[in-house]
Amino acid sequence: MLKMDLKDPNLEQQVTPKNIYFIASGKGGVGKTWFSITFSHALAQQGRKVLLCDGDLGLANIDIQLGLTPEKDLTTSLVNHIDLKQVIIPCSQGRFDVIAGRSGSGTLATLPFQSLVFLKDQLKKLALDYDVVLVDLGAGIGPTIQSLLQIAGQCIVVITDEPTSLMDAYAFIKVMHGRENKLPMNIIINQAETLEAGKRTYGTIQQVCEKFLKVTPNLLGIIRRDPLVRTSICMQTPILTCHPTAPAAEDVKRTVQQIISY
Ligand SMILES: Nc1ncnc2c1ncn2[C@@H]1O[C@H](COP(=O)(O)OP(=O)(O)O)[C@@H](O)[C@H]1O
Ligand SMILES: [Mg+2]
Repeated sequence: MLKMDLKDPNLEQQVTPKNIYFIASGKGGVGKTWFSITFSHALAQQGRKVLLCDGDLGLANIDIQLGLTPEKDLTTSLVNHIDLKQVIIPCSQGRFDVIAGRSGSGTLATLPFQSLVFLKDQLKKLALDYDVVLVDLGAGIGPTIQSLLQIAGQCIVVITDEPTSLMDAYAFIKVMHGRENKLPMNIIINQAETLEAGKRTYGTIQQVCEKFLKVTPNLLGIIRRDPLVRTSICMQTPILTCHPTAPAAEDVKRTVQQIISY
């Protein structure tokens, strides 16, 4: 069970800070970016200091979903070798911080080795300043994503009930499970028809993981399919700002409530 422990006195000594969470999926278009934003927003509403970093270097779109026009972004930092701290921008509507990506700036898969080392080092440093650092990854499970995940404290895999999403998520979990440092895997079922249907979808991925990998991923939360998600994305406004009581918004808030330790 993922529990969010704050103000860990040993944070500085940790090789992999526990408070860096990567949001992954295997497949694209499942709602990773929307979930990353709404999860960050809900954590901020609970008083957590949150940094959301766009790790989808090829098709970055956190800034678009939030209606931000960043003058500096992750690519600015990577190309010029300036501290990531300097490209952080505030999302005033959500009261959390953002590192935007830049669409078309090349994908993570082609990131030079030196830039990757720099990025990991910088994220680890920033983790000391925040309660949570969230990284919204692009689709896929290439070597660069695997390398980046070496600094992850938690991984959240977003899944829908489509067989393609389930297969890709399983492949992702399998690859990550095969690595030396076993990373805690958490599942978000997104776009569930009902909470019950979401539980069944989790049951499917749980069964295959237990049967073939002998591992049980943690069910972090179930988010219902909700037309107001699309409405808020089209308005480029966080759903917790424009439709805070929408079913999908309530589902994310409940998920956050459950992981915050009292
Ligand atoms: N809970 C939901 N209910 C309805 N539609 C959703 C939900 N979550 C995501 N979507 C839709 O899925 C689309 C893709 O979301 P996005 O966050 O860009 O996915 P990804 O980052 O995984 O590629 C969004 O444009 C939105 O219309
Ligand atoms: Mg995305």
